[in-house]
Amino acid sequence: MEFQTIIEPFRIHSVEPLHLTTPEQRAQAVREAGYNLFNLAAEDVIIDLLTDSGTGAMSRDQWAAIQHGDESYAGSPSFRIFRDAVQNLFPFEHVIPTHQGRAAEKILFGVIGGPGVVIPNNTHFDTTRANVEYTGATALDLVIPEGRDPSSLHPFKGNMDVAALDQLLTELGDKVPCVMLTITNNSGGGQPVSLANIRETSEVAHRHGKPLFLDACRFAENAWFIREREPGQQDRAVVDIVREIASLADGMTMSAKKDPMGNIGGWLALNDADLAQECRNLLILTEGFPTYGGLAGRDLEALAVGLTEAVDHDYLRYRIRSTAYLGDALVASGVPVVRPIGGHAVYLDARALLPHIDPLHYPGQALAVALYEVGGVRGCEIGTVMFGRQPDGTERPAALDLVRLAIPRRTYTQSHIDYVIEVCRQVAAESAALTGYRIVDEPPALRHFTATFAPVTA
Ligand code: F0G
Repeated sequence: MEFQTIIEPFRIHSVEPLHLTTPEQRAQAVREAGYNLFNLAAEDVIIDLLTDSGTGAMSRDQWAAIQHGDESYAGSPSFRIFRDAVQNLFPFEHVIPTHQGRAAEKILFGVIGGPGVVIPNNTHFDTTRANVEYTGATALDLVIPEGRDPSSLHPFKGNMDVAALDQLLTELGDKVPCVMLTITNNSGGGQPVSLANIRETSEVAHRHGKPLFLDACRFAENAWFIREREPGQQDRAVVDIVREIASLADGMTMSAKKDPMGNIGGWLALNDADLAQECRNLLILTEGFPTYGGLAGRDLEALAVGLTEAVDHDYLRYRIRSTAYLGDALVASGVPVVRPIGGHAVYLDARALLPHIDPLHYPGQALAVALYEVGGVRGCEIGTVMFGRQPDGTERPAALDLVRLAIPRRTYTQSHIDYVIEVCRQVAAESAALTGYRIVDEPPALRHFTATFAPVTA
């Protein structure tokens, strides 16, 4: 007998209070925040689905490992425990710890980027794109066409358009220092990349003499999807799938705040010794000595344990099913969402829900603010606010206007998610009354973090 209830494969060991606010308090808080949910005091949020990055619950064993941390400046045994745990899954020769993923990106693109350089990816995450563009290079997204269609049910919507990649490398190969592949494809809806596609991408990159780098934040979720959806993979252990993925690549950037279950951390790993040396030199400039990067020894130890927990099948089954539970309930309620449901998040299709709001009046922002005002649920706009401004300062609608509800790992229970479902239904029922926003003030880069907004009144 297979039971239907998804049971969390853990029980609660230590609790953190939630602060329950009223709609009036939230309306005032979000107004004072300039209608930017990043500006809210976190205590004013009831269910925080802003990100799954660094917001998960560490396990008992991770907290125990924290006590084992060795804070030696150089040569800490905690570094070796961390490095071995990384190499157990990703056997790259050089493992360089960083304080989070974007630090690894900054270092990598600081060395291989620069004016005239082109970096292809399935879809660059915002920090990846920003770090590429900061060097004067161009960040190119080459996801398959289905990956841009929120209603396509393709099982691997994160796949690279391998023919487009081949053509790029044929035409502009001398400008491309590496090929990136983001697993899972966060900006495209948390969609996985198939093992077959990783193999083909690797084959094309290598045929043109280019290294393949993984942006592997959600590697375990991606491997679980491969196991569930890809023919012939059903009986494999996730660790084996992960090792095969690693064997097809030449390096990786990692935000350990996602699947490795850290509250902080990241790394850059690669095989090329000369490139690794250049990267270490930059690391020392901004992050720290190569045996700690920007981290404490205790953080490295927590990540080593987190990496073993991330590939546990009971955990991954719960993780993927509980995200789908939220998504499926919204689909059943007629709330438009990106399908299939991704690994770490459910993406609401704000442009479909709010067709009366011009994309340049940010339907994603309007929906995100409404979810907060109505229920204290904090999601994140992933659309024209995040991607609409072009390097030359002009603005155009992003491919999609989404609101991401990202699920922190091992943090919220099914009743929390049932509440989120109710809030989404309520907002959808009142969606015709929502209005758009305009930007009052914005910084030169990554504007979604700090811009302020005002409602557009008719
Ligand atoms: N790459 C991907 C695919 C990401 O999702 C992120 C972060 C990064 C790189 C950068 O890592 O935050 O440790 O510097 N994504 C978070 C998110 C912020 O909310 O999706 P970081």
